[in-house]
Amino acid sequence: MNVKRFTGAVAALLAFAAAAGAQAQGTHTVLTIHADQPVHSVSPTLYGLMTEEINHAYEGGLYAELVSNESFHADWSGVRDWYLVQNGNSSASMDVDTTTGPSAAITHSLKLTVTRADAGDRAGVLNTGYWGMAVRPQTTYQGSLWAKADSPAMSALRISLVSNQTGTRLATATVSGLTTAWQKLSFTLRTGQIEASSANTLHVTVAHAGTVWLSEASLFPPTYDNRANGNRVDLMKMLGAMHPAFLRLPGGNYLEGNSIKERFNWQKTIGPRVDRPGHESPWGYWSSDHFGLLEFLDWCEDLHMQPVLAVYAGYSLNGEHVTPGPNLEPYVQSALDEIEYVTGGTDTKWGAVRAEDGHPAPFQLKYVEVGNEDEFDHSGSYNDRFGQFFKGIKAKYPDLQLIATAPVTSARPDVIDDHFYVRAAKFFDDATHYDKTDRSGPKIFVGEWATREGTPTPNFDAALGDAAWMTGLERNSDIVIMASYAPLLTNVNPGAMQWAPDLIGYDALHSYGSPSYYAQAMFSNHIGNEVPASSVEGAGARFFYSITGNATDKRLYLKLVNASSDAQPLEVKFDGASLTGTGELITLSAKSTQATNSIEEPRNIVPVEKPLHGVANTWRHEMPAYSIQVVEVDLR
Ligand code: AHR
Repeated sequence: MNVKRFTGAVAALLAFAAAAGAQAQGTHTVLTIHADQPVHSVSPTLYGLMTEEINHAYEGGLYAELVSNESFHADWSGVRDWYLVQNGNSSASMDVDTTTGPSAAITHSLKLTVTRADAGDRAGVLNTGYWGMAVRPQTTYQGSLWAKADSPAMSALRISLVSNQTGTRLATATVSGLTTAWQKLSFTLRTGQIEASSANTLHVTVAHAGTVWLSEASLFPPTYDNRANGNRVDLMKMLGAMHPAFLRLPGGNYLEGNSIKERFNWQKTIGPRVDRPGHESPWGYWSSDHFGLLEFLDWCEDLHMQPVLAVYAGYSLNGEHVTPGPNLEPYVQSALDEIEYVTGGTDTKWGAVRAEDGHPAPFQLKYVEVGNEDEFDHSGSYNDRFGQFFKGIKAKYPDLQLIATAPVTSARPDVIDDHFYVRAAKFFDDATHYDKTDRSGPKIFVGEWATREGTPTPNFDAALGDAAWMTGLERNSDIVIMASYAPLLTNVNPGAMQWAPDLIGYDALHSYGSPSYYAQAMFSNHIGNEVPASSVEGAGARFFYSITGNATDKRLYLKLVNASSDAQPLEVKFDGASLTGTGELITLSAKSTQATNSIEEPRNIVPVEKPLHGVANTWRHEMPAYSIQVVEVDLR
């Protein structure tokens, strides 16, 4: 089938169709689909993910590391998440020692001074993990830590996973060979037939008086695809089930940092963990950067997503900016080096570094985003900053598509990144947002969007707002080439979250999808490659739809959204389609707008699938109140 150009007439027709919510509920509603009249293609990259370190998205989230504050940073309360263990008559103290550390990047350590301990009464430290430490039965954990001691008597450490409730050691290893020089020591812990629980701690103890210094403690459960330094299996499976086409990395404020010094400085996030100094993230907590640039790229590889690389563009959240011109040149060079790290062959400087870091094969890269939300740079420097990055990047990489985060005149960006955080009612009103956008301008990346209702994760009203919005994205997917919900992840423990709502919630042991997560998975898993012409008459208030089709797969996909408290009767007319009569109906619905999922009740609202038979060219269907449906119709 030929894909025709988007015409003004059809745009008007579609705009009318989407806006049809103005009419009374319960009238005779006719949705007509001209299956043989494609209007435009659907962007193959429409649905993707946006990510940043917020809400403990990586540390205490996706990144499977169980040990928190691995590098022993202290605040007013002491060494965060680390506590003394003094069994029986043993006696010890701990403090941060700023005079010794395992590397040039980590120049401090934990000094554990033991004045009394023996084999019966051990002393040491314990780590509480990220709001607990998930331990499962019959599971092998890989651990390591950097350590040194002041005397040969302190040559052995005992490492144990201990249940908080029973005090029982669930798994134990002995690490020997400590010397007076820093070295990395590895160990393995294996659990037996225990109950899965997150009420556990990791203990590191000694049986002698003396001093040991510790740094970079680590413990990993099995990870997704068994990747070293990898990700949590449950969260990766949930993300994979959305079949995202791309990952915007690292997006948001995390790229910019509170100050220029605290930006996402990619060069400090690669290489062995011990060589990464870490930095303060703009969301109020320390980022070890153990989840760094290569880990983002590995994540892309694991879920078959293309990276959308966001490069720091010389503006930070406190309003600091780098003046365009010679001062900005090092930042442009850093972006070029970063692109080379991602895409360069092993014969390039940074491609060789990537190979040394364990990934000789270059990654495919098409899109580079210059900055984040630069409309907040009230100095007005973005226009020239973007122009300078554009010139530098296009000179070396002419095929890269460059994304601007605010309107500019210094160069013509290939793509503009638009952000939307609104209530459901606003998305209902604005579902036609891109219907009249000038098709001759840059393409659009809706790099952050969400209906902001519900906490910590969206409620059903938010899912309805999101679904209404997505019908507009699909209908305009000739110009809207990519879209990504934000934020993606939140640890739901008190104090872990900085921004609500977030698509997926979790604690140390469990995870769940919000209604918005399911709505998005339904949309992105049922997307054709073209948008046929369609129209609606007599639709009730807050009814939204989009139609996509795939002539090769011989399917039509109807996305239907009824955000009303009344059922929505429909008569669907399939013109120009040869139907087999079969299909599938997937329904996500709730009894109220405030209904939701939570860590305690993760499956209140989940999609329900049912086979369809007898789908005729005129098909009558009734949508339940407050429902989001995908109708997959088989074609001959
Ligand atoms: O998604 C949360 C924040 O919203 C992002 O960090 C920022 O880009 C936006 O303002």
